[in-house]
Amino acid sequence: MVEERECKSTIRSDIQTDYSAYYARTRDRPPRATLLRALDAFAAEGRSPLLIADLGCGTGRDGLEMLRRGHRVVAVDREEAALNAFLGRVPQSWRSRLHLVCADLRSWIPPPADLVNASFVLFTLEREEAALLLARVRRALSPGGRFAGHLLGPGDSWVREGRCFGVERGELAAWFSGMELEWLEEERCRAVTPRGRFKWWHLWHIVARKVHEGESGR
Ligand SMILES: C[S@@+](CC[C@H](N)C(=O)[O-])C[C@H]1O[C@@H](n2cnc3c(N)ncnc32)[C@H](O)[C@@H]1O
Repeated sequence: MVEERECKSTIRSDIQTDYSAYYARTRDRPPRATLLRALDAFAAEGRSPLLIADLGCGTGRDGLEMLRRGHRVVAVDREEAALNAFLGRVPQSWRSRLHLVCADLRSWIPPPADLVNASFVLFTLEREEAALLLARVRRALSPGGRFAGHLLGPGDSWVREGRCFGVERGELAAWFSGMELEWLEEERCRAVTPRGRFKWWHLWHIVARKVHEGESGR
């Protein structure tokens, strides 16, 4: 059921590896607020059903909600175990709307989509890789299409330790050029990660909308 493409690529750090504890702890958590905002915005516009690409889908925390709302989903992750676990949670009658792809996002080209969702995954890439992926996402989005996802700010423990790249508030407009930052929320908190470690989170929660040609992005 899982399409194989470049499975198991090179590993950069423990942020990217051994997601089993993460999957176990987050499995039953609700979908991300970014995804819900984006889906609600499309619903308010009467756009449905949507074509959605879910990048770094894990075991379907967000993907299940997309399917529950009747959308078609291409879900990508390089962990085959996650994709199989996701599939196992999908009711039979929804499966025809789900296409699972085992691939490395660093070289993956998103298909045409109304919404590209990337929850807690862009910052696991190198800065340049994430920027290039976002450029491909922008090209894949339909006019008025949306991106939903997260980046880290400079105050995040992983950024300060040099394990991930961080993005300053002032840089966000450039990261989402050609798009309107429709919803941007900054979160700073000390918390235990799903793997049981203390850290400071400095998160950008982002929903960005691709502007139509001739429409000005703010
Ligand atoms: C922190 S988890 C987030 C999972 C899910 N999106 C969520 O919000 O719960 C990151 C996911 O991205 C996947 N991932 C990380 N780097 C990747 C890459 N280069 N290519 C494909 N998947 C990747 C991991 O396997 C993992 O499932």
